[in-house]
Amino acid sequence: MSFLIQPDSPAQPNRCQLFGPGSRPEIFEKMAASKADVINLDLEDSVSPADKPQARQNAIDAINNIDWGTKTLSVRINGLDSEFWYRDVVDLLEKSGNRIDQIMIPKAGNAKDIYAVDALVSSIETAMGRKKPINFEVIIETAAGLAHVEEIAAASPRMRAMSLGAADYAASMGMQTTGIGGTQENYYMLGADGNHQLADPWHAPVVAIVAACRTHGLLPVDGPFGDFSDDAGFTAQAHRCATLGMVGKWAIHPNQVALANAVFTPSDAQLAEANEILAAMEKATKSGQGAAVYKGRLIDLASIKQAKVIVKQAALISG
Ligand code: COA
Ligand code: MG
Repeated sequence: MSFLIQPDSPAQPNRCQLFGPGSRPEIFEKMAASKADVINLDLEDSVSPADKPQARQNAIDAINNIDWGTKTLSVRINGLDSEFWYRDVVDLLEKSGNRIDQIMIPKAGNAKDIYAVDALVSSIETAMGRKKPINFEVIIETAAGLAHVEEIAAASPRMRAMSLGAADYAASMGMQTTGIGGTQENYYMLGADGNHQLADPWHAPVVAIVAACRTHGLLPVDGPFGDFSDDAGFTAQAHRCATLGMVGKWAIHPNQVALANAVFTPSDAQLAEANEILAAMEKATKSGQGAAVYKGRLIDLASIKQAKVIVKQAALISG
């Protein structure tokens, strides 16, 4: 371990972030009634330019008037390259009460983007006497975002989470696909038998985001999976991201919420195994051993840390 101890991530459930356009207020109550841990009211790319002012007002009304229970409530503002974002921040913080938890900053390109929003948010919070600081989550979805992912993670004490935005990421990187996440049939290796063996084109940004988040104590999250009728494809992508260390995934349709919750909630079997490993290691440590055998395989002091990741996640989710 480095002299610098790795910080803990925020202790908030984040298995599924359900999105809904700010211009569709008729679905807000349904979002509130869903089993998603996080709600993202969107003012950005699911809202057409003409609808931006009304969507902003809808989001403010929803923050103030809907019972969001214990969910983390977040609003995705417009990008810093647009003429909309400053008004999003000003109106949200001047006109909505304390129920809002987070602002999501899309297309974050470097630490200065976060600094700019932080300066505006800080000024409004002071002017309005807001007692509950607004947290930030960002989307890594551009080449610059990936190149500067670590400085973005470290950019503000308000930072809580980072998501991979597959569609904008693909466009910014010049990737040859119109799919939003998931399997890309042209990303393959040729097997010895000449068959195509598909690989994961999202692996590199997922790992970069997980590393930046774990270094700075943030929650790494996978973004949208566009084909909401492909449950198996969603689950496969979610499993890959969970295996690589992400804690949750977006839902862009209510059907995807249960799929995400199922993948990112440790199963009873995973939890039982983690507890057995901890018990076996406690026994080993007591008898002066640093390593032991569990079901025919090596476990040692690192296994304690691995098992604790699962036990901690399960405890967080069960409350
Ligand atoms: N949250 C909660 N409920 C939703 C919902 C959402 N995001 N999207 C749809 N619903 C509701 C519908 O109102 C409908 O409810 P009903 O059974 O009471 O009539 C039900 O779920 C089934 O909806 P369906 O007809 O399958 O979808 P749709 O055609 O109404 O909408 C989308 C499909 C993809 C346009 C819509 O889900 C959506 O806008 N998703 C979010 C897009 C977004 O926010 N993108 C930005 C992030 S990438
Ligand atoms: Mg995007």
